[in-house]
Amino acid sequence: MKFIHITDIHLVSPNVLLHGLDPARRFARCLDDIKRNHSDAECCVITGDLADKGEESAYQFLFDQITNLGIQCHLILGNHDHRGNFLKTFAKMDVDEHGFIQYTIRTSAGVFVIIDTLESGTSSGIYCEHRSEWLRDTLKQNSDESVFLFMHHPPFDLGFSCIDQIGLTDQRNFAEIVRPYANIRHLFFGHAHRPISGNWQGISFSSLRGTNHQVALDFKSEEINYADEPPEYSIVLVSDDQVIVHTHMFPLEINE
Ligand SMILES: [Fe+2]
Repeated sequence: MKFIHITDIHLVSPNVLLHGLDPARRFARCLDDIKRNHSDAECCVITGDLADKGEESAYQFLFDQITNLGIQCHLILGNHDHRGNFLKTFAKMDVDEHGFIQYTIRTSAGVFVIIDTLESGTSSGIYCEHRSEWLRDTLKQNSDESVFLFMHHPPFDLGFSCIDQIGLTDQRNFAEIVRPYANIRHLFFGHAHRPISGNWQGISFSSLRGTNHQVALDFKSEEINYADEPPEYSIVLVSDDQVIVHTHMFPLEINE
């Protein structure tokens, strides 16, 4: 089974630049590359920061783009998103009983669990008791399945202080919810705008650069510094005994 992971697309209003770059053009190029090379992907998951300032026009652009992709696209909110504005465009989105954008997707590789860590007014991720309850129930119901987790904020520190200080706040609670489930095969997240992979309490994980701007690899700085690094997306191949993540720095210019 093949699927695509994209993160941190940070769309803005039309004709506006962000960090001197055009997020709409870059995201469109990303989708072009996927269409040309991976149209056989079963689905695509975007792990948050869909709109840079939660702009309604950005969500409308996103809607139009993914409607034309020809691959089912699943969306996650990040700290730059606005849940209410998002739902104006994506009104048919699954929400949990408390209105959070949390849902499951049944794929041929197993169950994808989509997690909402957005809390307005903070860049950090929050996983409140309502959301935690939903995740406990969801993991319990799917304990006999292969499960894959998707969220914007990593649920642990990365050793990267500028990002760690805006990470998930109650990491211990999240870790305790997930720990009993050996059937969780991989965790995908965004937020850091960097390619990062490893293992967290027995669960393999991966993240990647965004499609617009990137964060510099600086372990000492408390402030986020940006880097002139290329955008990328990941192609994930899943079989019974493997999860392989290929990260692709797609070209921004098309050479026919
Ligand atoms: Fe971001």
